[in-house]
Amino acid sequence: MAHLLITGGAGFIGSHTCLVLLEAGHSLVVLDNFANSSPESLIRVLELAELGFESERLRVIEGDIRSEADLNRAFGATPGSTGIEAVIHFAGLKAVGESVAHPLRYWDVNLAGSRSLLAAMEAHGCRNLVFSSSATLYGYPEVVPIAETAPIQPINPYGHSKAAVEQLLADLYGARLQSQTPWRIARLRYFNPVGAHPSGRIGEDPNGTPNNLFPFVSQVAIGRRKQLQVFGGDWPTADGSGVRDYIHVMDLAEGHRAALDVLLAEPPQLLTLNLGSGQGHSVLEVVSAFGAASGQPVPYEIVPRRAGDAAATVADASLAHGRLGWRTSRTLQDMCRDGWAWQSGNPKGYGK
Ligand code: NAD
Ligand code: UFG
Repeated sequence: MAHLLITGGAGFIGSHTCLVLLEAGHSLVVLDNFANSSPESLIRVLELAELGFESERLRVIEGDIRSEADLNRAFGATPGSTGIEAVIHFAGLKAVGESVAHPLRYWDVNLAGSRSLLAAMEAHGCRNLVFSSSATLYGYPEVVPIAETAPIQPINPYGHSKAAVEQLLADLYGARLQSQTPWRIARLRYFNPVGAHPSGRIGEDPNGTPNNLFPFVSQVAIGRRKQLQVFGGDWPTADGSGVRDYIHVMDLAEGHRAALDVLLAEPPQLLTLNLGSGQGHSVLEVVSAFGAASGQPVPYEIVPRRAGDAAATVADASLAHGRLGWRTSRTLQDMCRDGWAWQSGNPKGYGK
């Protein structure tokens, strides 16, 4: 069992991963500034893990990854003297449109924040890292399904900041490879994470109007929004709407646990893996599956394409299966059922 630092652990993917890691017996320190989350998610994680609020197995530090003082608090917060053995680094900003309007903010939090985390890890002798990267690196893919060897060609500042961190990690890995303590790094490129824990107690809680399809559809189903706009009905896909590789957030969380196990068990390496299901679903398929799961109508209109969208992005998920022995097991129906359990049980999210 390891002591782990989880940056951004109160967020959507972080909270589900914290639960899976607690259930696997690990002890966690979460560092989060709650810029896009609420401490309530972690209270619910403790409930689901059947741990008391005062449990030593989950320490929460409100702080910023760009602050050396906050990072020092986090690295000093483990019970006992073993120190943090590995970091899972979720903290960051992720809204594509906002990144176009505020590139400085994105380079600051995503790149400078990651740089200061890595410097703290070196200072505290912790060289094991799982990093949240993104399929956004592939831009407009030339070949689908997309393998990890596909060209890195991001098309927005968010993607550029993720590509820069990936490069920084490769540089650091190379620089320390011959040292006594090389880095062990997993760069995990997520496709489209959706859904929620099946209890409906934790889930995605976006601020304002959601940009992403799933939270928008579920807010239409609950009656918070009138109708969905389907961006483009003339894509070169089977039904003309855009196709994506949706991955249930619990499958994604389990992928992190598998990546961590492999990193800690095997000789030092730089792993770069797509985390997706390998299966594409169109917007109209999502609308119909969500309507069936919720029993609520999801009215929609087809409008022109959204700038910057690709017709189809689907992962070649075979490398992650080969390297981690992990693959997704949950279907689109599961994603909709669990997403609806979260939305209908928490119509206003965590109420933050
Ligand atoms: P999220 O916004 O729910 O979680 C990110 C967490 O980081 C939040 O709790 C936020 O408060 C925290 N945070 C932000 N800035 C911080 C800072 N300066 N210091 C400390 N904490 C900070 O997002 P998520 O969907 O859980 O995404 C987690 C990671 O995965 C992000 O790095 C994101 O870029 C990446 N990712 C997400 C998706 C997706 O579609 N959700 C896809 C690919 C990659
Ligand atoms: N869509 C609609 N209407 C909406 C929202 C989305 O039709 O209101 C469509 C999009 O055009 C696309 C599909 O639904 O065809 C999925 O769109 P999302 O915005 O949910 O997801 P994207 O694939 O565009 O991007 C998301 C994140 C990126 C991340 C990428 C891969 O926003 O940051 O997944 O992980 F990089």
